[in-house]
Amino acid sequence: MTEGGVIDAATAMTEQSTVTQATATKIAALPDAQVVTAVRHYTDRLFSFRVTRPRSLRFRSGEFVMIGLMGDNGKPLLRAYSIASPSWDEELEFYSIKVPDGPLTSRLQHIQPGDAIILRPKPVGTLVHDALLPGKRVYFFATGTGFAPFASLLRDPDTYERFEEVIVTHTCREVAELTYGRELVAGLAEDPLIGEMVAGKLRYYPTTTRETSPRMGRITTLIENATLFADLGVPPLDPATDRAMVCGSLGFNRDIKLLLEAAGLREGANSEPGEFVIEKAFVG
Ligand code: A2P
Repeated sequence: MTEGGVIDAATAMTEQSTVTQATATKIAALPDAQVVTAVRHYTDRLFSFRVTRPRSLRFRSGEFVMIGLMGDNGKPLLRAYSIASPSWDEELEFYSIKVPDGPLTSRLQHIQPGDAIILRPKPVGTLVHDALLPGKRVYFFATGTGFAPFASLLRDPDTYERFEEVIVTHTCREVAELTYGRELVAGLAEDPLIGEMVAGKLRYYPTTTRETSPRMGRITTLIENATLFADLGVPPLDPATDRAMVCGSLGFNRDIKLLLEAAGLREGANSEPGEFVIEKAFVG
C-alpha cells in the first residue's frame, strides 16, 4: 500500500510536469494565449469553460471578446463570445454551443484544463447598461447560449442599483439546456456580494419549447398573448418604465425586436441610449 502510494505520487508528479511543459509550449506558440482552468459539459450541445484573465483586461458586463483556436492553416480561428463572468471575477467564463461541423466549436468542445486558447483582449458590445436609458424594470430576454451576457449582467451589482425589478427569461428546446442559467440564478441568492441586492428584485422565467416543463412556449408567443405579464403580475411592456436586453438567434432577435417596437420601445446603442438593445448569440 505504502509503496503503491509512493509510486502513485511519483507518477503524478511526472505527469504534472509533463502537462506543465506541454501547456507552456502550447502557450508560447499562440498569440494572446490564455489557459483553460475549468470545463463543464451540460448536454451534448452545451458546455461552459473558464480561462485565465489577462491582467490588463477591463470590460463592461454584457460585452464580448473574440476567442478561438489556431486553425489548421496556421491562422487564428476566432468567434465572438460574450463574457459570462462578472467584471470582478479573476477569471473569464464562457458559455458555448457545440456544433458537430462548426469550424470552431467542433474543436473547442474538446478543450481541457491546461489547454491554451486565443483571446483578443478587446471587449465590445451593445448589451451594456450605458446603452439603455434609466427605467424601472429591465427584461433580459435570452434563448439558448444567448444567456451568456446575462450571466455577467446578473452578477453585476450595477444591474440591481439601476433597476427596481430585473426579469430574466430563458427559452430553450429542452429542460437540460436551462441548467446553466438555472444554477446561476439559484446561486445569486447565496452570493456574498449581491445576495441581498437580488432579494425581491430578480424574477427568473424559464420556458421550453420541445420538452415538457412547467412553463412551455416561445417567449415571443408568451409576450404576444400576454401570458408572461399575467404570470409575473406586471403591466404590459411600456416605454415609460420598461427596458430590455435581447440575446439569441437571428430569428429570435428579429421577432422580439418587432414586439418591443410595437410596444413603443426604441433600440439603443452606446452612442445613443434607448429602451432596448440587442445582440446575436454566436452559433457554430
Ligand atoms: P423552437 O423549439 O420553437 O424553435 P435554438 O436552439 O434553435 O437556437 O433555439 C433556442 C430556443 O429559441 C428554442 O426554444 C426555440 O424554439 C426558440 N426560438 C427559435 N427561434 C425563435 C424565434 N424566431 N422566436 C422565438 N423563439 C425562437
